[in-house]
Order: sequence, then C-alpha cells, then structure tokens
Amino acid sequence: MATKERWASRVGLVLAMAGNAVGLGNFLRFPAQAAKNGGGAFLIPYIVALLLLGLPLMWVEWTMGRYGGQQGHHSGPGIFQSMGRGRFWKYAGTLSLWSCLVIASYYLYIETWCLAYAGYSAMGGFLDKDLAGVAHFFERLTGERSNQIVAVSPWGMGLFALCISLNVYILSRGLAKGIELVAKVGMPLLILFAAILAIRGLLIDPATDPNAKESPFVGLNYVWEPKFDSLTNPSVWLAAAGQIFFTLSIGMGSIHCYASYLREKDDVTLTGATTAWTNEFCEVVLGGTILIPIAVAYLGMTEVQQLTQGGSGFGLGFFVFPTLFNNWGAFAPVAGFLWFGLLFFAAITSSLAMAQPIMAFLQQEYGVSRERSAVQFGLLLLPLSLPVAMLHSNTFNDEMDYWAGTVMLVVFALLETILFAWVFGMDKGWQEMMHGAELAVPQIFRFIIKFVTPVLLLVILSAYIFKPKQDWEPYLTGIFSGTGSAAWEPAGDGLIGKLLHRDIQATLDDPNLPVERRQFQERLMLVRNVDRLALVGVFVFFAVLVHRAWVRRRAEGRA
Ligand code: PHE
Repeated sequence: MATKERWASRVGLVLAMAGNAVGLGNFLRFPAQAAKNGGGAFLIPYIVALLLLGLPLMWVEWTMGRYGGQQGHHSGPGIFQSMGRGRFWKYAGTLSLWSCLVIASYYLYIETWCLAYAGYSAMGGFLDKDLAGVAHFFERLTGERSNQIVAVSPWGMGLFALCISLNVYILSRGLAKGIELVAKVGMPLLILFAAILAIRGLLIDPATDPNAKESPFVGLNYVWEPKFDSLTNPSVWLAAAGQIFFTLSIGMGSIHCYASYLREKDDVTLTGATTAWTNEFCEVVLGGTILIPIAVAYLGMTEVQQLTQGGSGFGLGFFVFPTLFNNWGAFAPVAGFLWFGLLFFAAITSSLAMAQPIMAFLQQEYGVSRERSAVQFGLLLLPLSLPVAMLHSNTFNDEMDYWAGTVMLVVFALLETILFAWVFGMDKGWQEMMHGAELAVPQIFRFIIKFVTPVLLLVILSAYIFKPKQDWEPYLTGIFSGTGSAAWEPAGDGLIGKLLHRDIQATLDDPNLPVERRQFQERLMLVRNVDRLALVGVFVFFAVLVHRAWVRRRAEGRA
C-alpha cells in the first residue's frame, strides 16, 4: 500500500530527525564514555569517527531512504531491495527491523524510568534522599535487587505499559501530527532544560558552596581539553566509533525510514548534515557540560572516574544525580525535573524513530492501517520487553544492548555501504545524493564513502570479534612483525568472549566469590542463552514476514 504520508515542514523534518538522533546516548552515554576513555583523549578519535563514519553514513542513509521512498518503500527490506536486486539485500535490510525492535524493547524501559524520576523529582520526592534513598526508589521502580535474577515491580510495570501506550498513541497519529509535533515541542524544551542545567552547573562555586569540592570547570576541562596520550590505544578508538554510531542512530534503518518520506527533489546533504550537527551540539556542548562537570564539582575526579567505569552513565545519572541536586536547596526538585524531563524528551523522540520502520513495513506490506500498525508495534514489543521489565538488567538489557545496540550497527552499516558504493555504484549513488542538494559535499567524500568507510567498518568489526583479553599491543605487534601472536585469548566483552560467556566465567573463577553471587552468575549464563535464542527467533520472525510479503508482491506482479 503506497503511503501519502509526508513531513509537514522542513523545520519539522529537521527536528524529527534531530529528535531521532538526540537521545539518552547524548546525555548519559557520551559523557560517561568520554570520562571512561580519558576525557579530552576521547575527543579526537570521536571527531575523526564523526568525519569518516558518521557524516558519510548519514548522507548515505538519507540518500538511500529518499531513493527507496520514491519507489514506495519505507523500511529496510524494500529500501535495500530497491538498490540491490537479489534476495540477499532484502534480508540484509530486514536486519533493520530486528535492530529497531530489539533496541526499542529496552530503550523504552529506560524511557519509563526517566518519566518516573521526573515526576518523583517534581514532587520533591528526592529532597531528603541520600544515595541509599535513591537506590531504594530505583529498587521500588524496577524490583531489582543485587544477585536476584527476577526483578518485578508492579508499579514499574504499570508505568512501562503507560509509556508504551503513550508511544503507540503518538505513532497512531501519524508522521506530521504525531512524531513531527512531538519533536517540535520536545526538542526546544529539551535544549532549554539542558541549557538551564548546564548554566546552573557552571555556577557552582567552591568558595561559596560548602559542599563543592572542585570548580565545575575542572570537569569541563577534563572532557574538552584535547589530549594525545591515548591516541594509540585501539580501545579508545573503538569506543569513539561505537558512540558515533549509537548517537547518530546510524546502522539501524531508522534514518532511512524518516528520509523515505521526503519528496523527490528535497535536499538530503544540507539537511542530513544539519541533523548531525544538531546532534553533536546536544551531545558535546550540552551533554558534555552537565553530567561530568556537576559530578566532578561535588564528588571530585577520582570518584567520577570510578562511577563511569561501566561507560553507560546510568549510575551517575540515575543514582548519584538526584542526591547532588540536593545541594541546590529549593531549586533541587526543579533541577531533578529538568534533568529527567530532558532525558525523557530525548528518549521519546528516539523511541518513536525505532517504531516507525516497523510500522511502515506492516502498513506497506500487509495493508494494515496506521492505527493498527501502531498497536501491533506495541504488541510485538512484548516478548522482549516483558523479560526486560521482569528480570535483572544484567540479563536481557545488557545482552540486547551489546548485540543490537553495538555489534549490529556496524554490521548493518558495512552492508549498506557496500550496497550503496559497490552494488548500486558510487557514481550513481553520488548522483542520487547530489540530486536537489543544497550543500555541495566535497568530492573527497566520494573516496571516503567508497573506500575509507567500508575499510574502517571492517576493521571495527574485526576488532569487536577478536578483542583480546589483555592489551591489544602485543597481538598487533605480533601480527605485524610476522611472529604471530600465540597467546591470544578472547576478552570477556568481545564478541567471541561473549559467545563463550567468558565475562561470566571470569567472575566464577574467583574462588572467594560469595555463594549468592555465584548462583546469580550461573543463572545469568542460562538466561543469556535464552535471550540469544529469543533474538534469533525475532530475526526469523521478521524474515518470514518479509518472505511472505514478497511472495505476495510477486503474485501481484509488484516485486
Ligand atoms: N540515537 C539515539 C541515542 O542517542 C538512539 C537511537 C537508536 C535512536 C536507534 C533511534 C534508533 O540515544
């Protein structure tokens, strides 16, 4: 079924696209990754990754989306198929439906936390709370206790259902009246909230605030001041590339889908670049000025570095921050509301973007109405969202974030670059990109898209797969000097290591591990296997849907 849906205005489109990209990644993940990977030392690989991977892939995805949209395709399988004949590309495109659904099923849960925290902050709920008090709130919200696999909280699940319903409702209103409208309201508010917090944070003055240990500028300098000492460390480069992917929403078919509602002559280069720059402003400038500077001011650098070791920023954002706001007296409830409110707006404009490709697929291939497809998206979430909500976050949540939110982005991006530059052809692709272009992209990007980006993606993917347990250095020197690296062992957080549960095994190897912890880890292994099966199941499900849709297309002569 061809759709007549279009974006209502260019401003709306840019805000919707920026809303898609600007998410939890900007305000939690980025600052935590930066802190974890050496502050200013992270910034250089990050900018290089933005220029060699982020921007080129942004243009590729916009171009592919608009091209597919002209032929009536609004989701991965159709868009990929419109550029490359053959069954393979259709199923490669199907990966995007998989990624969007899997990421949405845990992303929406965190979105729910933001909603709950914003409400509770506004009510002054955190006013008298210390760390233990906030942790107690979190436990009531999620049911999560250490060393217990099952984590059920009735009101947390109720709120989750509410949050999913809110998304479904907005989606059912359609592109212009739903997604675009929410972005038009949510994005300016988000920037306003963030600006207020950033300014208040920078005004912390150890001379007048007895609880402050440092000036917030110590934290700001740490994030911003370029350092060159870890430029030779592959892990920092990998982290930077991973962050660029996640934050720009690249490698999951969500940008393609939004771009597929463009008109034939609409520009993709200037608008695509604008989206990327808006995201970077929200990430580096706003995101970089809130979490770390405020935390460093009150806790000191050493503690902040410890708190960001996980790299997600959750500990700082959800546990520590409400207590830090209490240093601001009567402003604390407002600050809490602004912080979690901005996280909520950031999250919801992103979760809508994960849903749209799936809805578009159902509408187009199965003739479902918009309203129904929104409800069906909500139902499709359940098999993964329920375990996310009912089990410890180390089970489904972490696992899905690794496979869908990290590895698959790179795989998908690699496939799409090959499709665009090599199968569709770089000349044709470039022509398509420049059609209606308002920004003349420098010719060098032709070379980058064709050679540099795919090679880098391959390197990144290999690094994910073969991540060694110890440092990279001895292996790389071994490989390049031809002596070979005899003692390679997989890292617990590399792909091979994950498959073999090396991360869990490493904990179990500790003879002093408390019994409870041991049992937890053993069960964790089991649950993760179930999770992986479920993830494979979701892909098979989509592949069957795609297969059936194309059987129909062929029968009706539309394939
Ligand atoms: N880019 C979003 C963020 O930074 C995440 C996202 C993933 C958005 C997938 C859309 C699709 O949080």
